[in-house]
Amino acid sequence: MAGFRLPPEDSELPQANRPALAPSDLVSDDDRSIAADSWSIKSEYGSTLDDDQRHADAADALLSSGNFRTAASDYSSDKEVPDADGVGSLLGLQSYWDAAYADELANFHEHGHAGEVWFGGDVMETLVCWTKSLCLELSQGHLPTDVNDIKEEPQDDKYLPSWSVLDLGTGNGLLLQELAKHGFSDLTGIDYSEGAIDLARSLAYRDGFTNFKFLVDDVLETKLDQQFKLVMDKGTLDAIGLHPDGTIKRIMYWDSVSKLVAPGGLLVITSCNSTKDEIVQEVDEYNQRGGGASIEAEAPKDPEAAREPIFRYLNHVRSYPTFMFGGSVGSRVATVAFLRN
Ligand SMILES: C[S@@+](CC[C@H](N)C(=O)[O-])C[C@H]1O[C@@H](n2cnc3c(N)ncnc32)[C@H](O)[C@@H]1O
Repeated sequence: MAGFRLPPEDSELPQANRPALAPSDLVSDDDRSIAADSWSIKSEYGSTLDDDQRHADAADALLSSGNFRTAASDYSSDKEVPDADGVGSLLGLQSYWDAAYADELANFHEHGHAGEVWFGGDVMETLVCWTKSLCLELSQGHLPTDVNDIKEEPQDDKYLPSWSVLDLGTGNGLLLQELAKHGFSDLTGIDYSEGAIDLARSLAYRDGFTNFKFLVDDVLETKLDQQFKLVMDKGTLDAIGLHPDGTIKRIMYWDSVSKLVAPGGLLVITSCNSTKDEIVQEVDEYNQRGGGASIEAEAPKDPEAAREPIFRYLNHVRSYPTFMFGGSVGSRVATVAFLRN
C-alpha cells in the first residue's frame, strides 16, 4: 500500500472529509533532487558489519516466512525505485526527513510554527486519551481487552508518573507535549533526524516542558539501553516501511522495539499505511519467528517461555472518523496496542 499523508491540522476541512494525499502530491522539485541524492548515497543504515549481519538475518527470516510480498533481493540497489508510485519511498529516507525538518526549523525560528501534526489534532487527542485510559486500567491490575474496558470519564492520574514513555520517531515532539498535558511526566523522544530533535527541543522549551529527554537515535540501531513501560509510535513504522528496504527494516523494527518495551509494558502503534488487522498479523508473524530478526535466534532457556508470544494484541482505537470507499467503511488511521510479555 502506498503511503499517504493527511494535511496538517490547520486544514479547514474536517478530518473525515480531508483528501488523502499521495506523497507525489507533496513532492517538490527540491524534494526530488534530495531523493535523487539519497539514491546514490548509500543510506545511513547498513554501514557497520553488525548492521549488515542484522540485515542478512532479517532477509533470511523474511525469505523463510514466505508471507511477505517482496523478497529482500528485489532492493539490492538504492538506485532502484521500488514501487509503482516510486516516490512513496521518499518518506522512508532519512535525507527526506532531514530536509523536511530543516524547513520546519527555519519556519519555527522565523514564524514560531510548530510544524505538522501527523494525522491531525483530533487523532492525537483521541490517541492520548485512549492510551492514558489503557495505562490507568493496567496500573489497577485490569486487562482492558474490550471496547467497554476503555473508560472515557476522568480517572485518577496518580499512576501515570510511574509510566516511563518513549516516543519513537518523535518528529516535532508534539505527541510528548500532549502526553504531558494528560499527566505523563517521564517522557523521552528519539528521532534519527537531528533537525527533528532540535525542533522538538526548541518547541518543548518554548512551551514550558523542561523535563523531556531527547536523543538523536535510529530506532533500528538504538543506543538506548533502557526499557520503557509505554512505547509510542505515530507514523514512524509507516515511514520505515517506505524505505526501499522497508520490508526488511520492518522486521528489524520489531526486533529493536521488543527490547525497548519493558516486560508487562505497552506498545501503541498508530499507522495510516497498515490496517489494524495488518499490524496484528505482522506481530503474529514476528511472534511465530520467536522474535529476533534471525530465524536462528538463540534457543530459549525456558521452553515454556518459548511458547509465550513476545507481543500480545490488547486493544485498538475504534473511534476515529470513518469514510466509505468502494462500498467498504474504513478509517484512515489505525491505532493498536500490544502488551509485552
Ligand atoms: C511520519 S513522521 C511522524 C513524526 C511524529 N511521530 C509525529 O507523529 O508527528 C515519521 C518520523 O519518523 C522518523 N523516523 C523514521 N525512521 C526512523 C528511524 N529509523 N529511527 C528514528 N526515527 C525515524 C522521521 O524522522 C520522522 O520524524
